Amino acid sequence: MTLERTTPVAHLASRIPPSFTLGVAAAAFQIEGALADGGRGPSGWDAFVEKPGAIEAGASPAVACDHYNRLPEDVALLQDLGVDSYRFSLSWPRIQPDGRGPVNQAGLDFYDRLIDSLLAAGITPMATLYHWDTPLPLEHRGGWLNRETAKRFGDYAYAAGARFGDRVSQWVTLNEPLSVAFNGYAFGVHAPGRALLFDALPAIHHQLLAHGLGVQALRAASVVGGIGLTNFHAPIEPASNTRRDRLVAHVYDLAMNRMYADPVLLGRYPRLPLWAQPWLRAKARITDADLQTIHQPLDFYGLNYYFPVKVAMGRGQELRRTDPHHAMSRLPFRTVDYPELARTGFGWPVAPDHLGTVLGQLRDRYGAALPPVYITEGGASFPEPDSVSAPLRDAERQQYLADHLGSALAAVAPGGVAEGVDLRGYYVWTLMDNFEWAAGYTQRFGLVHVDFATQARTPKQSYYWFRDLIRSREP
Ligand code: GAL
Repeated sequence: MTLERTTPVAHLASRIPPSFTLGVAAAAFQIEGALADGGRGPSGWDAFVEKPGAIEAGASPAVACDHYNRLPEDVALLQDLGVDSYRFSLSWPRIQPDGRGPVNQAGLDFYDRLIDSLLAAGITPMATLYHWDTPLPLEHRGGWLNRETAKRFGDYAYAAGARFGDRVSQWVTLNEPLSVAFNGYAFGVHAPGRALLFDALPAIHHQLLAHGLGVQALRAASVVGGIGLTNFHAPIEPASNTRRDRLVAHVYDLAMNRMYADPVLLGRYPRLPLWAQPWLRAKARITDADLQTIHQPLDFYGLNYYFPVKVAMGRGQELRRTDPHHAMSRLPFRTVDYPELARTGFGWPVAPDHLGTVLGQLRDRYGAALPPVYITEGGASFPEPDSVSAPLRDAERQQYLADHLGSALAAVAPGGVAEGVDLRGYYVWTLMDNFEWAAGYTQRFGLVHVDFATQARTPKQSYYWFRDLIRSREP
């Protein structure tokens, strides 16, 4: 098939170092469906989607991509794409329906089949233990506001490690604790739908504690693969050079970036200003032993980068509920547009250079404490039709991916803004269009188009572009 291409593949391919991993990423709740099959228990997300208005157009995740029943077809898509690695998540409530106690054999068997078929296809598995689907019984006991959830996570991590530890190449404990704390507990736009503002801050600490206990559990289970976690990072810019805007940018940077990376990589929380009184109260219960648990040696650090953030002092206007910055409209500061930049379907500014900025910040902040880095997610949604009869001409997505990968490679190259960062790979978000959380099925991020009425999978041109890139690398 001859396809239109906007980006010369050979040039980009020639800049990819040997043994650099190219992969795609996905998450259980967004693709699996089969929520009541095979002994799976409900998650906090299963309950949240029932809330009127929680999900755009009232969309249901009950079927999603029906991946649970279409595993062979989806692994065949991965194999044909030729990725080195596939990042997927294990569903905690599929493996341990109550979030404690006995494991569910059918759930474990499903992931056994996934892992074995990936290996048979020559694809290395990167497994995320937690991509936001907390077992509902734990959510009912407070979820991440309850310290006990961290301990339960440790037990679950051990069970997963014991079963899959001989075959998984890399383990990600948590995906984006920031998003869960902010969207789920502070602003209520994701499960569990709590709007606690600063009282949500303990949800950060308990997730990080879960991360530490999870690392210890995986090591106790003698897993052969590397262990890391994935954090969302965004460079934060003040809208102007005024003292007020710079102060907001500083605070926002602490809240979005450093609260998650500092304890994990340095063993301490950043010093917070007085606005965070509820956090300071909660902090009284944080022990040195907790910080030691959180500060585990890691084999890699996962970075999810999508967009930069610009902030200004003063309230913003009410934003769309599915807007990731909706939350901010209740605070005395706001995010500000980048009028000069193109936007994705979600309205996110397209800023590949800022990926280099983030990598440079990680190096400057953490130095030798920063392990090798994988970009564990990056990608974009664009308005696309519900059904197609031929590969979609998604030139914007190709350009987005080429520019971001190119920017990351340039940043870590000699003389680059992040020279010295040991960047090991890039995972495209995502293999196929899926259930995009509160946005339902309205945001298509996939390299493969999914017709949710028929479950037909049709690779987009970006899929063939990425396949060419993978194939064109130096052997
Ligand atoms: C990430 C998240 C993914 C996906 C992506 C695109 O924050 O980890 O699950 O939703 O954003 O919105």
